[in-house]
Amino acid sequence: MQISEFLNSLKKNKSDKGAQEPAEPPAEPEKTVGGGDEKKTPAPKVKKPDAGFIHYFQLLKGIKNPVVDEYDFERDGTLVEVNVDDTYEQIDQYWVTNGCSLIIIALNKKTNQQEYLLFEPSLSDFEYELLERLYEDLRCVLILSSKDIKKDRKQVLLEKMNELFNDYGITLTRSARHKIQYFLVRNFLGWSRIDPLMKDPNLEDISCDGNKVPIFLYHRHYRNIRTNIAFEPDILNSLAITLAQRSGKHISSGSPIIDATLPDGSRLQLTFGSEVTTRGTSFTIRKFREEPFSPVELIEIGTFNADVLAYFWMAIENNKSLLFIGGTASGKTTSLNAVSLFIPPIAKVVSIEDTREITLFHDNWIASVTREALSEGSNAITMFDLLRAAMRQRPEYILVGEVRGAEAQTLFQAMNTGHTTFSTMHAGGVDAAIHRLESEPLNVPRNMVQALNIISVQGLIFHGTERVRRVQEVVEIAGIDPSSGNMRVNNVFVYDPIHDKINFTGRSQIYTDIAEKRGWTREQLEADIATRKNLLEEMRKQGIKDYVSVASLFHAYSIDAKEVIANISDLRMVIQ
Ligand SMILES: Nc1ncnc2c1ncn2[C@@H]1O[C@H](COP(=O)(O)OP(=O)(O)OP(=O)(O)O)[C@@H](O)[C@H]1O
Ligand SMILES: [Mg+2]
Repeated sequence: MQISEFLNSLKKNKSDKGAQEPAEPPAEPEKTVGGGDEKKTPAPKVKKPDAGFIHYFQLLKGIKNPVVDEYDFERDGTLVEVNVDDTYEQIDQYWVTNGCSLIIIALNKKTNQQEYLLFEPSLSDFEYELLERLYEDLRCVLILSSKDIKKDRKQVLLEKMNELFNDYGITLTRSARHKIQYFLVRNFLGWSRIDPLMKDPNLEDISCDGNKVPIFLYHRHYRNIRTNIAFEPDILNSLAITLAQRSGKHISSGSPIIDATLPDGSRLQLTFGSEVTTRGTSFTIRKFREEPFSPVELIEIGTFNADVLAYFWMAIENNKSLLFIGGTASGKTTSLNAVSLFIPPIAKVVSIEDTREITLFHDNWIASVTREALSEGSNAITMFDLLRAAMRQRPEYILVGEVRGAEAQTLFQAMNTGHTTFSTMHAGGVDAAIHRLESEPLNVPRNMVQALNIISVQGLIFHGTERVRRVQEVVEIAGIDPSSGNMRVNNVFVYDPIHDKINFTGRSQIYTDIAEKRGWTREQLEADIATRKNLLEEMRKQGIKDYVSVASLFHAYSIDAKEVIANISDLRMVIQ
């Protein structure tokens, strides 16, 4: 018997009252994944059975639901059938979810380009129609009781699924049951078709350029890469609405552009419909790692070395202002976030951003974000407004996600009035950055630009065949040349691409100033720098590199440096 016939037979004795739409309709299930685009059209709609009614009836009869049988890769084996044809030559493969979502990186011999092929369980016609049916019926039964609310969401979903299986009176094979569980969880609780991409830790960016256009990715190892995933317009729009809603924003043809932060901290840019983006709804997700990069990890990756970070550490403790510049995705925000760990633990910090990206480990921290006008009559809150408000919050450190408009002047006023600020800006080099600061629409007067102490230039560059992120140079602003009126800058660190090394030029006005202020001799200054460098290197050697441990250790150092140094051979002792 076909499932639709079978399910139709159930409807005779039921009514369709009380059905409620879920807040978030899940995307349609797909019949198969990978390879072609042979999506199966959903079965003709049949009137739904009142699942709740049968359920209560069965409860009265004392029929018990089976316990939820969760899928286990080791025990149950894979649910995915891989089907890559001869046009592809496999290069790499890995699981995003063991047994359920597999990534194959393969060379397409026709185009001579690498592709990112996602494989998920494929469903038989029966399973597909059953899944469709479950979506419909779950809308009726996903009205949670107070007992359910306390439970894990996945558990509740799977229990409700089991109840429905009981209602239908069907028994599935284990593998069919597990496949259906996978799609239900992925579509109700995850991000439907892009869920595996959201879970893949190797991805930096996910971009969807429009209807029926394959999704492109920026992969940590394979760089820009095309996928085998594309969306029909209605499914794409429904995904866009889910993305916006779960970030607490509203998207519609009336306000078709949003910038938002997804619940996991990723940054989302979304345009809806085809009015502003002619190929249809588009989105770009900048994924951030669950845990931000710590300074120690940035040493390990080679973006900075211990000399540069010890320099930032000293500069930050002594209230010097920093600007990270570089091209798109060169890692400016990541570096800003990492060096913010050097801010003394109880100093007051205010961060100002368009979308929340900065994560700090400080308690005394106000995290503010701009917002657009929500409706007529409500005000938009801009970076400028937040900065003005921040000045009255008496912060010692002000972090501005990215400067790009009129707020630049206020930021430089803040620096001129003794606040320490860190921010990022799009600019290829120091000259370009200063030029940008001084011209429209930033318009910072040259004598105010001098309040900025350090510019760090980041680059996403080639090292051999690998794409790596490296600091290109670290520059101090040394005032205005009185004769020419030009800005004087002083190179402190310079990257040597041939040896992949960062060299200290030996000239730092900031080091000299710090020594003077503290009444240190040159030897004392050098000893202090050496201690910090050594500590950073020891942390790396001893594997203390996760954000939380590194933050705790810096905090310990700022409270009692001697104690930390006394335990340098076993730094874990200090954190414990
Ligand atoms: N030093 C690094 N090493 C490896 N990956 C990095 C590094 N810095 C950043 N990344 C990764 O690169 C991506 C871009 O980083 P980030 O957002 O910090 O760049 P950005 O320069 O601020 O970009 P944008 O110009 O879009 O604001 C992120 O996925 C991040 O995890
Ligand atoms: Mg950024």
